[in-house]
Amino acid sequence: MSTWKTPQRIWLTGATSGIGEALARKLIAQGHQVVLSARNAEALTALCEGHPNAHPLPLDVSDRQAVIEAGSAIGSHLGALDLALFNAGTCEYLNAQQFDMDLVERVFKPNLFGTLYGVEAALPLLRAARKQGLPARIAATSSASAYLPLPRAEAYGASKAAVSYFLESLRLDLAQEGIGVSLIHPGFVKTPLTERNDFPMPMQVTAEQAADAIIAGLAKGRLDIHFPRRFTYLIKLLGILPPALRHQIGLRMTRTQQESS
Ligand SMILES: NC(=O)c1ccc[n+]([C@@H]2O[C@H](COP(=O)([O-])OP(=O)(O)OC[C@H]3O[C@@H](n4cnc5c(N)ncnc54)[C@H](OP(=O)(O)O)[C@@H]3O)[C@@H](O)[C@H]2O)c1
Repeated sequence: MSTWKTPQRIWLTGATSGIGEALARKLIAQGHQVVLSARNAEALTALCEGHPNAHPLPLDVSDRQAVIEAGSAIGSHLGALDLALFNAGTCEYLNAQQFDMDLVERVFKPNLFGTLYGVEAALPLLRAARKQGLPARIAATSSASAYLPLPRAEAYGASKAAVSYFLESLRLDLAQEGIGVSLIHPGFVKTPLTERNDFPMPMQVTAEQAADAIIAGLAKGRLDIHFPRRFTYLIKLLGILPPALRHQIGLRMTRTQQESS
């Protein structure tokens, strides 16, 4: 599997489950210095046990102060970061017939603001790596749903589209400092998050396959890491169709009120 030639100092969020857990296990095994975050402190400790290169740092990414303090703790522990990988996220689908703003906030808080709190906390540590003459990179797990608005994905898809837009814009403004920004757009990955889905998930990959694709893409400094390619290229293509055609295709995926209740 492609990876970095030298050990990296990495902060990974969402490390206790699914894609993040697979990433954590692979990054630890490859000998990188990793700080792992999520809310479940026990699961983080278990992941790090027996691995002096792994350090648990429990936090709720929706809590800005906690994320800022985590940044300070990482500064004391590692001194700098070569990679900040913001993967923590959640998914809930909206029923527009019972418009639920609490649901929208539950999704946006960790997915969008959690990611941006992480960027705020990580930037001084990435700049410290640049001062050491090393490359530095921010990465975030967005979603292929950011390429194409889908029914019931108002909250989830928009939170991910906002992450993609924000970080792509930030990439332009951080280029002068030599800080790279990578966006990860997975299709369907078999994890506890997608186990709850009650609709077909074509071309689903395993969390291990997802982690391999992410590590290979990050090590190469790719800007847009998307997989599985057959699926993500199709979604990208649908995303650039004329709005009226996109609407007709999207309507075929909607549920009636009876199906939603
Ligand atoms: N699976 C897919 O098909 C798919 C597709 C596209 C994008 N994604 C994205 O990939 C990322 C990982 O998803 P997954 O499928 O691996 O889901 P998952 O198995 O549910 O894992 C989510 C991870 O995020 C952590 N997390 C959630 N809310 C958090 C919070 N408020 N603070 C800190 N950590 C939090 C969870 O840990 P704790 O519960 O311990 O906090 C867990 O480690 C997400 O951003 C998701 O949107 C997934």
